[in-house]
Amino acid sequence: MTQDALFQSLYPRLGQWPLKLAAERLEGGEHGDFARWQEAIDSLPAPSPGPSSEPWSVKTGAIFYPLQGTTTDFKALATQLQQLHPWRKGPFALGSLFIDSEWRSDQKWNRLSGALGRLDELSILDIGCGNGYFGWQMLNAGAKEVIGIDPMLLFCMQHLAIQHFFKDPRHHVLPLGVEEIPNSYCFDLVLSMGVLYHRKNAKAHLDKVFALTRPGGRAVVETLIVEGERSLTPPGRYARMRNVWEVPCIPDLYRALALSGFQAVELIDVSTTTPAEQRSTPWMHFDSLEQALDAQDPGRTIEGHPAPRRAIMMASRPS
Ligand SMILES: C[S@@+](CC[C@H](N)C(=O)[O-])C[C@H]1O[C@@H](n2cnc3c(N)ncnc32)[C@H](O)[C@@H]1O
Repeated sequence: MTQDALFQSLYPRLGQWPLKLAAERLEGGEHGDFARWQEAIDSLPAPSPGPSSEPWSVKTGAIFYPLQGTTTDFKALATQLQQLHPWRKGPFALGSLFIDSEWRSDQKWNRLSGALGRLDELSILDIGCGNGYFGWQMLNAGAKEVIGIDPMLLFCMQHLAIQHFFKDPRHHVLPLGVEEIPNSYCFDLVLSMGVLYHRKNAKAHLDKVFALTRPGGRAVVETLIVEGERSLTPPGRYARMRNVWEVPCIPDLYRALALSGFQAVELIDVSTTTPAEQRSTPWMHFDSLEQALDAQDPGRTIEGHPAPRRAIMMASRPS
């Protein structure tokens, strides 16, 4: 399928204008590293799956493609894929090459997937999808189609590198911010994971998630949270991140989701993020969670805030 034909198939869900914008961004004119990324993707080896009948699968949390090759081939492949560093979400495995991303995203998936259940025939929007790791998990759980959006072009390029092998027409990762998507009321399931606290106007973000969910559909909102009854508005950085505007407490999250119109709001999980889940690796060699925590008191960030804890909420849009 050409990019044009592929995008045409998405018009009904995303609208023509955002897709035009995504196509322009995927041509890369605006990004200084684009030519290097594109060259890395263009020089990837031809997909050569092993004898397995499945084109790709999920193996112990990694999104796996049965690529065949020699040790030398895999060394060269690793060098090409390292051009797309940092790999934040994963893991992925291409034959014997294990892309050990910063996040063991399978751990979040394990906390969420039981509550989601089977996703047969669902059309899903994943807001802030990164390179699309969760999209593969959702397709594996039966989804009909997953559209991921993320303004970071690098993550879309990582998805294209994976799609070079997988060639799965049910999954797209587009370089768009959620605010660029017109309200379409047509996704059966909308995910917003790790995005809420990055939005200056959290209420507007939840309203948008609601507007993108079809009547009778479901939404998942996963976010950093603080314990207790008061949301935290960090005066400066939070865990070294500059763009954390508000970390909600759980009662405020319930209220905000209800105010946006959601019903049947449920708390699925609350977990502390540990360096077993988020850490530096050879595929993400910048600092990670460990360097953001107080070395004397890992219950605090280096700014003195409560250490990262995350909640997963699920809610429905009334029919
Ligand atoms: C903390 S990461 C979470 C990634 C993934 N959803 C997860 O749960 O692991 C937040 C992601 O949201 C993306 N993001 C930031 N602003 C966004 C926006 N306005 N619209 C959509 N995605 C956004 C970032 O680029 C980043 O990839």
